[in-house]
Amino acid sequence: MSTASPAPSRPQPVGPALMVIFGGAGDLARRKLLPALVNLRADGLLGDAFGVLATATRPLDDASYRNDMAQAVRGHLGGDLDAEAWSWLERRLHYERGDLTDDGLYDRLARRIDALDRELRTAGNVLFYLAIPPSLFAPTVARLAARGLFDESGGHFRRVIVEKPFGRDLESARALNRSLAACLAESQIWRIDHYLGKETVQNILAFRFANGIFEPIWNRRYVDHVQISVSETVGIGHRARYYEEAGALRDMVPNHLFQLLGYVALEPPVSFEADAVRDEKGKVFSAIVPIDPEDVLACTVRGQYGPGTMPDGERVPGYREEPGVDPQSSTETFVALRLAIDNWRWAGVPFYLRTGKRLAERASEIVVEFRRVPFMMFRSTPVDHLGPNRLTLRIQPSEGISLHFGAKVPGPALRLGGVDMDFCYRDHFGEEPATGYETLLYDALRGDATLFQRADNVEKAWAVVQPILDVWQALPPRDFPNYAAGSRGPAAADELLAREGRRWRTR
Ligand code: BG6
Repeated sequence: MSTASPAPSRPQPVGPALMVIFGGAGDLARRKLLPALVNLRADGLLGDAFGVLATATRPLDDASYRNDMAQAVRGHLGGDLDAEAWSWLERRLHYERGDLTDDGLYDRLARRIDALDRELRTAGNVLFYLAIPPSLFAPTVARLAARGLFDESGGHFRRVIVEKPFGRDLESARALNRSLAACLAESQIWRIDHYLGKETVQNILAFRFANGIFEPIWNRRYVDHVQISVSETVGIGHRARYYEEAGALRDMVPNHLFQLLGYVALEPPVSFEADAVRDEKGKVFSAIVPIDPEDVLACTVRGQYGPGTMPDGERVPGYREEPGVDPQSSTETFVALRLAIDNWRWAGVPFYLRTGKRLAERASEIVVEFRRVPFMMFRSTPVDHLGPNRLTLRIQPSEGISLHFGAKVPGPALRLGGVDMDFCYRDHFGEEPATGYETLLYDALRGDATLFQRADNVEKAWAVVQPILDVWQALPPRDFPNYAAGSRGPAAADELLAREGRRWRTR
């Protein structure tokens, strides 16, 4: 493949700003946020007037926090760590110990924000990051608001990044949006979905709209159906408490899978401006046909893994044997759904979604399967069932795009076979060290909300899954566990497609 054309202009460094991280000693800060800041600095994308004020309950001060984070960041970036960028960031790390329910903490934070602002010349700009349990989002925001910390009247920005989950159903999502809206303007609320930080997810838009050849066939006339799969090999780790309450549907579908669905299905936005893109995504969610409660069991499949052997030979316990999980748990660790989008472009084209834990392979991908040729002129040849064309957008691992088509097998007989035209990101562009949070933090600091969730879209996504939550709750599963760890998921997920003459595409 030929090399890429040079990018038209290099992105500019952002700042000045102070980033205040709630949950600043926790997993997200260690694994993602601080490493991402180091990578941004190494790429020349963070200006000098920048600092971090972390807060958490651990008894640390600036020096011990820096020490602790040095180890964490080294551990996560390993050989990719840019030592200069780390020592730059390390000097700018600050720590305030405190309990989020203690009003005194917020007074201390307010004083330190002022002092650091003067010291680091951050121009009053503050990016608050809530890496804390969702039940604390609203009270924390209310306490910050009460101290006037969201006031932007000086011309500076005050933004709040909220991590998922945004509610656990439609009603709680609405309630959370209402509490945030009581303290902040929508333009100050930045709801992160880390899937949108993935290069290949952003590339869906580039692929569709920077190329003239795909859009004309990107519709019901040419597309037979779309499959969106996020399959994971990991179990639930140490997250039993969260996962028992959430389950695969809440954990993955109205957020990560819907982001993929939205980008695949949206109409061309009038520009790449945040609201233009988010408006179009919202229209897709509004056009998804609500599943009638009567049809929920026919259009959805839920699963839970039992013990099994992973492809690398590791024997793993079933979900009900995981530490912290109820031995009778009916929480699903797998979900598959069939959705329909009622609009001019997609009427009649099924969208199949599936995601699950402890599956045979780790693979997130979107498959657009095209209609078969209208007439098979090779009928009398040995192969008269040529597979349909398929475009696969691989999100992870080995990010890339491939097109499957039929070709003649060399030789005197007219034999046909399926072949792939393959583009692999890594081979072409090389690999940059990335945590997936670089773009999101960069965008939040410079004020580009395209990759962040808007309140209305969050609610629209919950509205789609709400009937499923209701029916599943009313009718607990009777066949759990229904797939073995290390397998391809429950047989019922294959039947969901087989009933319609289709099958899941796997690599
Ligand atoms: C998180 C979910 O939001 O996304 C996890 O809570 C899931 O359960 C993870 O494993 C998947 O993210 P990624 O980037 O590994 O595909």
